[in-house]
Amino acid sequence: MPTALVTGVSRGLGLAIAGQLLAGGWAVCGISREESPAWLALAAAHPGRVEWRAVDLARPGDVEEIVFGPWLARRPVHALVSNAAIAYDDLISNLQLPPLEAMFAVNVFSPMALVRGAIRNMLLHDVPGSIVHVSSVTVETGAKGLAMYAATKGAIEAFSRGTAREWGSRGIRSNCVVPGYMETEMTATLTVEQRAKIHRRAALQQPTDPTSVAATVAFLLSERAGSITGQNFGVDAGYR
Ligand SMILES: NC(=O)c1ccc[n+]([C@@H]2O[C@H](COP(=O)([O-])OP(=O)(O)OC[C@H]3O[C@@H](n4cnc5c(N)ncnc54)[C@H](OP(=O)(O)O)[C@@H]3O)[C@@H](O)[C@H]2O)c1
Repeated sequence: MPTALVTGVSRGLGLAIAGQLLAGGWAVCGISREESPAWLALAAAHPGRVEWRAVDLARPGDVEEIVFGPWLARRPVHALVSNAAIAYDDLISNLQLPPLEAMFAVNVFSPMALVRGAIRNMLLHDVPGSIVHVSSVTVETGAKGLAMYAATKGAIEAFSRGTAREWGSRGIRSNCVVPGYMETEMTATLTVEQRAKIHRRAALQQPTDPTSVAATVAFLLSERAGSITGQNFGVDAGYR
């Protein structure tokens, strides 16, 4: 049974991705800071196929050893889904370095450290691995208050394309899914008016369903996507 390492499994998109991968026959090793009731229920429904570790991605220096040390060293990891992220939402004129640095730690530095660990694991175990990063439509569209957040996702899109070039010869693929606005905890503070404005902009006039994004991730990890690497896939209800 292939193993996927998924970050941010406690809720939102990460929980949906873990659910779809388990339904598709994967074993899932999940990471977040807390185990939510929904995650515990998903794990209980798939005995023997789910593991979890508390990892704080705000501490990139520790991440690779915690994950790819004793926990996963002896076990091939066939896929990495780098989904966990935070949004420091503010105007550029209000920029404060501590929250900016914290966001880059979670959204950029830890994912890069996890990719390093995943590639080393894939090479050691001789598996043709697949990496999927979760980006954001804001890289392309821009969004007031999200310039700094979008910059972290733009960095990841560039990193993913570079990873694809660097490791394709060893059978390792890297792609990004690029969701539009989803109704998760990350967007819970938006007002009714802000939501309506976002919905109006989308061709489908509705938020992006995490199920669609998760299905795209599952496809990209599968052998059916064996010729796809270095790409970004928009799943955004027609927002762009
Ligand atoms: N929601 C949207 O509209 C939207 C749009 C475009 C792209 N995205 C992207 O989609 C992905 C998923 O977002 P979401 O909406 O599902 O967000 P969410 O509901 O806020 O969930 C975030 C997940 O990341 C984990 N996480 C946060 N900080 C962490 C840390 N320091 N260490 C370890 N885990 C951490 C959280 O778990 P714990 O709190 O338990 O640690 C949680 O499982 C993100 O990459 C986000 O940027 C979201």
